[in-house]
This record gives sequence, structure tokens and C-alpha cells, in this order.
Amino acid sequence: MKDTAGIPVAFVGIARDITEQKNLRRALEETARQRNEDLQRFAVSVQRVQEEERRRIARELHDDLGQQLSGMKFNIEVFEDSIPETDKQTRSKLEKFMWQIDSMITEIRRISANLHPAVLDDFGLVIALQILCEEFQRMQLIKINFEPPPQTAARHDPHVEIALYRVVQEALSNIAKHAGASAATVRLGQKDGTVSLVIEDDGKGFDLETVHARKDVDRGLGLISMRERSEDLGGKFRIESGPTKGTKIIVEFPVRQ
Ligand SMILES: Nc1ncnc2c1ncn2[C@@H]1O[C@H](COP(=O)(O)OP(=O)(O)O)[C@@H](O)[C@H]1O
Ligand SMILES: [Mg+2]
Repeated sequence: MKDTAGIPVAFVGIARDITEQKNLRRALEETARQRNEDLQRFAVSVQRVQEEERRRIARELHDDLGQQLSGMKFNIEVFEDSIPETDKQTRSKLEKFMWQIDSMITEIRRISANLHPAVLDDFGLVIALQILCEEFQRMQLIKINFEPPPQTAARHDPHVEIALYRVVQEALSNIAKHAGASAATVRLGQKDGTVSLVIEDDGKGFDLETVHARKDVDRGLGLISMRERSEDLGGKFRIESGPTKGTKIIVEFPVRQ
């Protein structure tokens, strides 16, 4: 206020500037936080719509196309009965058609189960994971040790169940593609309002920094989407890995008791 000195007047100006700057920064931070929340909500709803669509296509494939093929096979069987035993050529052609239909039915079941595991809706996460692990072990010849929760697990929110299922699917696919593992463990636990999921392999592991530093095109989406699926639903996601250490993926979700 000593205008003769000049400096105090300048101080008042600077102080006001600083306050304004602080307010501005706070407003910007608030906008950024809201934008982040909006984005996260958007990601969750995109994922839900995508899962819903997958479920619909899976059902249609399985129920409609699958049923029609089974019907076709039945018709051929009936027709075959009307062909004389002596007409071996026609009979063997028909056998071939039926064999082709069988393999189409198997393929449709596989695609449909991959799109959306109906077993998840009907029997829940534990059974769905058990089947997934058994199937993976059979196809990949990697020993999978599935450890379900000690008590009969309660059913969770379907969005949580599908997220955990997708995390295991991606983790197992990474084990098959990258780990060179001979065995892996999938452990599902529940304690004090938290569901925990651990997928651990005895493979060659990887350096997290190196993978994070990869250029976008080489980056891969598996680890990112596992993290997003977990965090979008309020869960925590962690990877422990290192060369020669194997890889451990840990997901924790809060659940309603
Ligand atoms: N279980 C694992 N064992 C060894 N390396 C792994 C494992 N999981 C992931 N990685 C490494 O992390 C990278 C990124 O994985 P991901 O995001 O799923 O992308 P992608 O599988 O398409 O390469 C892989 O390319 C691989 O180098
Ligand atoms: Mg992957």
C-alpha cells in the first residue's frame, strides 16, 4: 500500500495472481478428474454392451444354427435308413455328410463358448473356470492346477464374473503364447468381502519395463485389457514377473457380502 515504494503494490498483484492461478489449477484438476471418470464410465458401458452382444450372438449360433444342423443330421440319418444296405456308395456318402455336420456342430459350440461361456450364466464362475482350465490343459498340454475357494462360492455380479473369466482367458492365452511354462496355477479365493484371483506360471517371465516401453503397435492389448477390466469394476490389478521368475497376475475385487 506504500505506493511510493511501489513494491508492496506489486506484491498485492502477485498474491492475487497466485490465488487466481491456484483456483484455475484446481478447476482444471477437477475437470480432468471428471473427464477421467466419464471415460471410465464410458469404457465400462462399452464393455457391457460388447459382452451383451457377444452373449446374444453366442446364443443364436448355438441355439439356432446348432439346432438346425442337428435337425439336418437327423434327416440324413432317416434318409440313410431308406437306402438299401447294398447301395454302399450312397450310404458311405451320407456317413461323410453326417461326419461333416458333426464337426460343424463342434466348431459352432467352440466359437459360441468362446464368445460367451453359457456355463457362466448357468453354473457360475467356479465351474466355468474349472472347465476353462481343463480345456486349456487338454489343448495346450500345460498342467493347470485350479484351486477353487475353500467354501462353496457365492454368485457374484455377472459383470464381475465375466471380467474375472476374461482375465483368466487372456492370462492363459499369454501363458500358451509367451511363457514356455510347464505348469500354472489358477487360484480363486474369497475372504473378508474381497474376491481374489491369482494366475501363476513357472515360465520364463518377462521384464515389465521392457514391455511397457514397447512401441504402440508391438504393445499388445492383453495386459492392458486385463488391467482395465479389473480397475473399471473397482478392482485392483497387479503383475509380478521377471526373467526366470515366472509370471504372477493378481486381481482383487471388493464384493457385496
Ligand atoms: N505369462 C507370460 N510369460 C511370459 N511373457 C509374458 C506373459 N504374459 C505376457 N508376457 C509378455 O508381455 C507381452 C504383452 O502381453 P499382451 O499385452 O497380452 O500382448 P500380446 O499377448 O498380444 O503380445 C507379451 O508380448 C510377452 O512378451
Ligand atoms: Mg496376450
